[in-house]
Amino acid sequence: MKQAAAKHITIGIGGGISAYRTLELIRLLKKSGASVTVAPTKAALHFVTELSLETLSQSACLCHPLQTNNGQISHIEEAYRTDLIVIAPATCDLIAKMAHGFADEILLQTLLSFQGPVLIAPAMETHMWQHPATQANIEILRNRGIQIIGPDSGDLASGRQGLGRMASVDAIFEHILAMLTPKDLAGIQALVTAGPTIESLDPIRFLSNHSSGKMGVALAKALAQRGAMVHLVHGPMSVTPPRLANIRTYPIRSANDMLGQVLELVDHVQLAICCAAVADYRPTQVVQEKIKKSQENTTLALVKNPDILRTLGQLSPKPFLVGFAAETSDLEKNAWQKCLEKSCDLLCANLITKANPVFGADENQILVFDQNGLILHIENQSKDRVAHLILDTVRQRLVF
Ligand SMILES: Cc1cc2nc3c(=O)[nH]c(=O)nc-3n(C[C@H](O)[C@H](O)[C@H](O)COP(=O)(O)O)c2cc1C
Repeated sequence: MKQAAAKHITIGIGGGISAYRTLELIRLLKKSGASVTVAPTKAALHFVTELSLETLSQSACLCHPLQTNNGQISHIEEAYRTDLIVIAPATCDLIAKMAHGFADEILLQTLLSFQGPVLIAPAMETHMWQHPATQANIEILRNRGIQIIGPDSGDLASGRQGLGRMASVDAIFEHILAMLTPKDLAGIQALVTAGPTIESLDPIRFLSNHSSGKMGVALAKALAQRGAMVHLVHGPMSVTPPRLANIRTYPIRSANDMLGQVLELVDHVQLAICCAAVADYRPTQVVQEKIKKSQENTTLALVKNPDILRTLGQLSPKPFLVGFAAETSDLEKNAWQKCLEKSCDLLCANLITKANPVFGADENQILVFDQNGLILHIENQSKDRVAHLILDTVRQRLVF
């Protein structure tokens, strides 16, 4: 499923210091394949230049309320063309004008002419944000169905700290992708496992692996963007789990912890994606005191961990089950065998090579198997994109 690609987004910019951060948002949107038109207010052009905005968006800006283009009224044409209007930063002045239907900026005229989704990212000093007038205006916009992201707490333009900072560019970008994604998995409860597990040896040391959690997090995000309620059970990851309203996180450490948490949740989900790199073995015994360096050589006694994927495959009824396999050799044979043995509906296999390290990388290429064999080869691309391609196959097969 394509998200921002082939979509048109209008970015409105208000006259706030955080306008400079919107340049990065425009760059991310263009990189994701969207076309972008920027509509800065007169005040915004004191903070960022038309030249920068036009260069980054590769498109002429909408700057003047009386603007036409070859005889066409620019704000009307933009309103019919665009899929989404995002205002970042939304100043308290813009918020007030939006709430009361003002039209003295081309951005406001476009908003009044537009009938689709709108997202605003307010940014202002704490007292301006908390003022009853601003809060009443925000309430009007919220009741009108306008989505609001932030503001966050942190450093403010005045040098003070507090609530009022524009939401992070990454968070705004993720929110935009979620708004543009059709909700074809709405109503689904999904379980995703991600990251490594940690198997303690003593109070200081543990056995683990190189899993970063990026693939599992990409799947959780993609599910949430498509409307599913996601339960993300994860070991200690090198990425932070996404802060989306429909993702609930359950941090765990060991394979046994993960199994316990998964079994608590599994009765309530229709889909389970086991992406975590669960340690196959754990030390037979966790030593209470730090193991001393007394001997030249030592051996570790290990015991097998529970097989979470196999356990889920044996449940009846069981959720639609997607497993992951990381193989370093004979990928096709081993992966299909794993799909059969563990009763998976789909098995996604990553071939780990020097060229495709998978662990920690931002990209992945995988083969997808079902009970009859190989069904799909997903070429090397971002894990976010890979996640959506896997979910396209899940969606075709999932009955709900
Ligand atoms: C340096 C400076 C920074 C400002 N930052 C903000 C801001 O972050 N948020 C805000 O609501 N207003 C801010 N203002 C005030 C707005 O620029 C002012 O209200 C302006 O009229 C907003 O116009 P606009 O809403 O049409 O963009 C700032 C003003 C100055 C001088």
